[in-house]
Amino acid sequence: MPATITAIAHYYPEDKLTNKHFESYLDTSDEWIKTRTGINERRIMKNGATSDMIVPAALKCIENAGIDKQEIDCIIVATVTPDHMYPSTAAVVQHKLGIKNVWGFDISAACSGFLFALKTAASLVESGAAKKVLLCGADKMSSILNMNDRNTAILFGDAAGVCLIEKSNDDNYGILDSILHIDGIGGQYLNQKAGGSAHPATKETVENMEHTVYQDGKTVFKYAVKGMADVSKEIMDKNNLTSEDISFLVPHQANLRIISATAERMGVGMDKVMVNIEKYGNTTAATIPLCISEWLEAGKIKKGDNLILSSFGAGFTWGSIYVKWNMNK
Ligand code: UT7
Repeated sequence: MPATITAIAHYYPEDKLTNKHFESYLDTSDEWIKTRTGINERRIMKNGATSDMIVPAALKCIENAGIDKQEIDCIIVATVTPDHMYPSTAAVVQHKLGIKNVWGFDISAACSGFLFALKTAASLVESGAAKKVLLCGADKMSSILNMNDRNTAILFGDAAGVCLIEKSNDDNYGILDSILHIDGIGGQYLNQKAGGSAHPATKETVENMEHTVYQDGKTVFKYAVKGMADVSKEIMDKNNLTSEDISFLVPHQANLRIISATAERMGVGMDKVMVNIEKYGNTTAATIPLCISEWLEAGKIKKGDNLILSSFGAGFTWGSIYVKWNMNK
């Protein structure tokens, strides 16, 4: 039996930064940001860590699932902004939630973090190694941004999405297929230079802002358009899905132009694409669960819908997962 998503919830901080805010001190404009990225505003967590966004989303997810939190036997957190290098954010979340007999770990796959973690959680459930996995995709990107770099400051935001992964009750519904990739060629184009063992923190690395996001946007854009469009089309073909069969494309929200190119390649109209980048920007591991949770809350997803989840991010990492939705709201 395949694994499936049995509950989902999200959290985003109250504080907003609009494009106008960046206009006030950077050489940029609302118009440039909107037309080049699709972003209008993003949420910023002023106080607290990534785990502090995960916990409210997790509590809501557990409530939605109608389970006792002690039934959860594994916690996975996909993030590139962990609370600490160690302990894992999964351990921090476990402690804050007070879940007793559980194990867990973090996954680092940047913007593909949620998909890589979803595949991992599904494999654990399908193999019988876990029964109820709390899967969290969350990033406090504002903690690693250079707010004076117009190339990156305007792109990202903070949010969390949490879902519960369990065995499906039907062979034909759930997480049905996945194609995932990693290629270290991308390291030079999108990275955080310092803070790891290659370049431990020094006074100089801090002064040079090497603990913040570096991105060669143009190059990443080219790889992202090809990577996300190709893999989304590939998973459709592999599963004999036509564009009519697709209920929703759920793309990582990095740039509206990358999303449109992917939809075009799949032959899917934008009315079938989940887009909320205008409200949140790129929240890295949170974009996909945040979309699904919002669309579900709005009653737009129904049992039997075919969803194609697709992402591209630092590494490079990219991939697609085919989900036949298994629940009504
Ligand atoms: O989620 C992880 C994966 N990341 C992505 O998928 C992001 C991929 N890349 C992108 O989304 C886009 O490349 C960006 C949105 C980052 C940039 O858009 P672009 O259309 O590729 O712009 P560009 O990098 O080609 O830059 C065009 C110009 C440059 O000026 P010059 O060199 O032509 O004089 C930039 O310096 O726009 C300039 N620019 C800006 N201008 C105003 C860069 N950022 C800004 C800005 N405001 N915020």
